[in-house]
Formats: sequence, C-alpha cells, structure tokens
Amino acid sequence: MKLKRFGVSMEESLLGEFDRLIESRGYKNRSEAIRDLVRKEMVEEKWESASEDCIGIVSLVYNHHQRELDSKLNEIQHEKHSNVLSSLHIHLDYHNCLEVILIKGSNRDIKGLADSLIGARGVKHGTLSITNSNPE
Ligand code: NI
Repeated sequence: MKLKRFGVSMEESLLGEFDRLIESRGYKNRSEAIRDLVRKEMVEEKWESASEDCIGIVSLVYNHHQRELDSKLNEIQHEKHSNVLSSLHIHLDYHNCLEVILIKGSNRDIKGLADSLIGARGVKHGTLSITNSNPE
C-alpha cells in the first residue's frame, strides 16, 4: 500500500498529551497512532449512518418576526409527523424563540429532518444531538 506523507500542526501542549497517550497505548510512533484514530472515526461514522433506532434532539433559535418561518417549521414537522415525538417552544424575548424538537427514527431520517429545520431561512442557531435509542 502506498503511503502518503502530510504535515500536521498542533499546539505543543496538545502534542505532549498526545505523545503520552500513544506511549501508554504502546504505539511505536505518531503516524501509527494517527492512522488508528482516523480508522476509528471512519468506523463510527459508518456505524452511525447505518443505525436504525435513534433519538435526535434538535434545538433552534429563531426570530419569530421572520416572515413565514413559524409556519415553515411547523409544516416541516407535520410532513414528518411520524418521526416527531414532541416539541417545546419557549419565547426567549420579544423577538426570539427557542424550539426543542425530539425526533425518532434512523440516523439518516433524523439528520435529514434536522437539516431542513436548521437550514430553514431565518434560523439563527441550530444544533442536533443524536443518541442510540437502544444502547448495548
Ligand atoms: Ni415564541
């Protein structure tokens, strides 16, 4: 297999901690440790996207004076009503609302729905947290 070299910049303190970690795990060098870390992330990513039983928590902060945003967010949730478990709406101040939406479904369903909600025009800040609904 052909190996390719690339440079990595890192704070000195972080590199020091990394060196201690890889030594304690018995790696011969940084390259070997980084390869393993990358592989681990790839496996998790694949596992996550294949996972069927997940719960997603979406939070949205938006200005409710933004034209048609309220009804747009409502419409998106109604379209996927079988995935939406619950939602909580808090009027943060005169302009801003916080909405927290609980979603169930496959990882893919949840990410798709979260993307349309977070990506709706006028949403100022949105986050998604996903957890497996039947952890081992
Ligand atoms: Ni509100």
